Amino acid sequence: MVWLALSLRRKMLPLGFLFLALPLSISAQSPGTSNHPWMNRSLSPDQRASLVLKEMTLDEKISMLHGTGMKDLSPISPLAVHSNGGAGYVVGVPRLGIPDIQMSDAAYGVRNSGENGRYSTALPSNLAGAATWDVDLAEQYGALIGRELRAQGYNMSLGGGVNLTREPRNGRTFEYMGEDPILAGTMVGHRIKGEQGQHVIGDIKHYALNDQESGRNAVNVNVDERAMRETDLLAFEIGLRESDAAAVMCSYNRVNGDYACENKHLLADVLKKDWNFAGFVVSDWQATHSTAKASAAGLDHEEPGEIFYGPAMKKAVQSGQVSMAELDDHVRRILRSMFASGVVDDPPQKSVVDVVGGFEVAQRAAEQSIVLLKNEGAQLPLNASAIRSLAVIGAHSDVGMISGGGSAQVDPPVGNAILPPGKGQTRWLEPMWFPSSPLKAIRAKLPRANVQYDPGSDPSSAASLAKNAEVAIVFAYQWESEDMDLDSLALPAHQDELIAKVAAANPHTIVVVESGGAVTMPWVRQVNAIVEAWYAGSKGADAVANVLFGELNPSAKLPITFPLSDADLPHPTIVKPPVKSTTQSGDPDAWKKIAAGLPLFQISYDEGLKVGYKWYDAEKKPVLFPFGHGLSYTTYSYSNLKVEPGKTIRASFTLQNTGTRDGAEVAEVYTSLPAAAEEPPKRLAGWSKVKLKAGESREVVVEIDRQYLSVYDPGAHGWKLVPGEYSFQVGGSSQDLPLKQSITLK
Ligand code: BGC
Repeated sequence: MVWLALSLRRKMLPLGFLFLALPLSISAQSPGTSNHPWMNRSLSPDQRASLVLKEMTLDEKISMLHGTGMKDLSPISPLAVHSNGGAGYVVGVPRLGIPDIQMSDAAYGVRNSGENGRYSTALPSNLAGAATWDVDLAEQYGALIGRELRAQGYNMSLGGGVNLTREPRNGRTFEYMGEDPILAGTMVGHRIKGEQGQHVIGDIKHYALNDQESGRNAVNVNVDERAMRETDLLAFEIGLRESDAAAVMCSYNRVNGDYACENKHLLADVLKKDWNFAGFVVSDWQATHSTAKASAAGLDHEEPGEIFYGPAMKKAVQSGQVSMAELDDHVRRILRSMFASGVVDDPPQKSVVDVVGGFEVAQRAAEQSIVLLKNEGAQLPLNASAIRSLAVIGAHSDVGMISGGGSAQVDPPVGNAILPPGKGQTRWLEPMWFPSSPLKAIRAKLPRANVQYDPGSDPSSAASLAKNAEVAIVFAYQWESEDMDLDSLALPAHQDELIAKVAAANPHTIVVVESGGAVTMPWVRQVNAIVEAWYAGSKGADAVANVLFGELNPSAKLPITFPLSDADLPHPTIVKPPVKSTTQSGDPDAWKKIAAGLPLFQISYDEGLKVGYKWYDAEKKPVLFPFGHGLSYTTYSYSNLKVEPGKTIRASFTLQNTGTRDGAEVAEVYTSLPAAAEEPPKRLAGWSKVKLKAGESREVVVEIDRQYLSVYDPGAHGWKLVPGEYSFQVGGSSQDLPLKQSITLK
């Protein structure tokens, strides 16, 4: 056995941390072609897993329960030499035909492809994906990631984040699916379904209530049982039900006293028992804090190393502290997931990533995700044949569009667009601009017009360019990343001033926002049009230009509320730990301290059930743009609502495109529960995204699961439908609901 001192370069830190290398043989990918009885595909994944388990030695079992470090650790653990360079690598059991697990982060595309010399498509951010409200597109999003993972030699994805936007300043808001559990859970479920359809192990993360980055390793989240079941946990429950995700990643934080990765209530009681989760629980990177306690609580696998689930686990098993049955359960779950997802029968073969195919999906997803927030006087779409001069301003829009950072970061193909070529390798906590140039895309639409650019660094000079142009388009950005939170939802630097000055100089000012989540807009009344482009990915600029010039009719809706100010949030200022305790502390022993446990600090999610729009509704706070809002270049009318009870609740209504352009409308159904339920005023219960030609009208049916009308009763340990009157409201936004009908449910 060899101890190796390693330093963690991945996050640009000279962290000394130790790995114990087990004396195991190293396996390459082993296709399941042997005659072993478990290679019989007609057996169930559980049967196959049990057959393998019977043949495994204790060392082989233990080796499946932890990672071997990351390849960019220096010096490299001998066991990690076969790592593909991703965040996690687990040695397989070649003699039994069980392949290695090669894990890569894959939030909005496969991470680190630049480092491994390949290419990945950057899709629009995950929140942008949620803004499409389009479950088929979510599957295509996942399938693209699955294909590109396989082409790069990975068989497990670390992606599918679904922490609710409870704290919108969370630096990972772009990685998640918004503030509503039904929308978020459904969208993440379809994304993972698409991914696993490509035969990779899908993973849903970070379970649970890791709703901010500040102090994520030290924080104890206090939240009551009913609130968590109906909010953050419900998103996971739905996501798992929709996808059969093979893995769940437990998070860094504590929940009601215990770390999420050794939280018996979250893992054993809720996830594995109540939800019948058959897959395995993988810890977030260095989120394991114990051996026996974590094992008994239901943690199956430690990443990235083996501090608790390597030799310490072996000792615990040998001494009887952890039973063989418990150990076997962890291993069986991992094996079962490998069979169920197809990685044993159909291991990935490295191949060339289909760049053109990736661009096609990325552009379609971006086009479907762009939200038209405001469009006064039909400022948009722009009429390309009539415009003679146009000013493009700000946010490096001459060369690129910004992307989300951290472990989600996808490498831009030629490096950071705002640096000289070759100097653009992704770095932790450094904004990356994708080489997708709005200026070029706009010029392509206006070949004969005078289109000029101003960087926006001097608001007065930008305003004078705008003054002399017929139309001014200001690009504004808000950068987010893992490992940081925003202090405020305000646009950084002097962008508010820039927009106000440009708007004062030009009455035809349009703002395109590139943000991870909500931003505040003190200038909202001064500009004619506002377009939310999110982090728009590899083909963002073309997608934005198509929306601006009307080649595409926007159809996306907000998956989060845009509040008027930070002061209106449930926590007006973000709760921060007394000392910075994330991986970026600069402390060489940070990881060890994290594993040992950092000084606790507390957050109380007293807003409870009132997450997102439910907070503003209940507190009667006006908002800038409500959840579910999004305009179109056409108009829709709603009529004839009919709600019928049954096994599911069936809401049917007529939707008509009353304008002159073809379009797609997200028709949203909300429910107000009886007063006895003691719920926020209303909740999203279902939706349908409907394509309609100009003038076309259609009967739309939304089937509503009874659970979505129920409340969680902690005393009875289950969901219950409170008898009484339920009011159903239907329309195109949470604050524009023209149809209403009440029914009594028992
Ligand atoms: C993140 C995870 C990620 C892991 C591996 C952690 O810092 O929280 O989301 O999958 O690193 O890179």
